[in-house]
Amino acid sequence: MIISFLNQKGGVGKTTLSINVAAYLAGQGRKVLLIDADKQGSSNTWASLREDSPFQVISLARENMAKDALKLATEFEYTIIDGPPHAETIARSCIVASDFVVLPIEPSGLSTWASDLTVRQVRDAQIIKENLKCGFVVSRKIGKTVIGREIRTMAGEAGIPVLKTDIEQRVSYAESMTMGKTIFEWAPTSPASNDIKQLTKEIISYVEEDVQLGTEAEPAIA
Ligand SMILES: Nc1ncnc2c1ncn2[C@@H]1O[C@H](COP(=O)(O)OP(=O)(O)OP(=O)(O)O)[C@@H](O)[C@H]1O
Ligand SMILES: [Mg+2]
Repeated sequence: MIISFLNQKGGVGKTTLSINVAAYLAGQGRKVLLIDADKQGSSNTWASLREDSPFQVISLARENMAKDALKLATEFEYTIIDGPPHAETIARSCIVASDFVVLPIEPSGLSTWASDLTVRQVRDAQIIKENLKCGFVVSRKIGKTVIGREIRTMAGEAGIPVLKTDIEQRVSYAESMTMGKTIFEWAPTSPASNDIKQLTKEIISYVEEDVQLGTEAEPAIA
């Protein structure tokens, strides 16, 4: 099972979400690999701040990374790919390798999302790879701003649904990353930890339980 976090835009939360979703799955006793497909190496830097990690982190920021990623993934229950901040060949390779592409978007950038190159790349890939799933996740949402039905309708028209779980802007994410911790180590009972838990369960329900995205069906969140 390969889940990638991709968006050509920088700073939307790809690395933060990759590390913490990987951490949640590892905390559930799953064997997890995190592939750092960004030449900046942020996930690798995070891992280097630690003595050990609850999941393995490997750097694979190569244009033809899909083949190696697919091979490595056979050894793990879940493989998470932290994507690069551009829509070049590496990004396409990440999409090719994935079962589910999560596209983090910031509320401020909502109006342009549908025309973004990353979105077009995913939709192109879906023509050939019919079972490739994808969804936007609203990331770095400030306060209780209602993202609302209108935005979800727009996304639906763009052909890509928005996950039900939003990720709020919370200082504990930035702090935990700087300290080389997962959000579950840094702030285990925080709303931030809970949001990652809900997001991961939602993604997994779409990938594994065949819950349909963009329908009224509630994902299986216990
Ligand atoms: N939900 C959040 N709340 C608070 N800070 C956040 C949140 N998500 C990300 N950040 C912070 O924003 C910055 C960018 O986040 P991150 O590195 O996860 O984004 P990215 O999409 O991986 O960036 P890049 O495109 O450069 O790889 C980091 O300093 C991170 O700690
Ligand atoms: Mg990053």
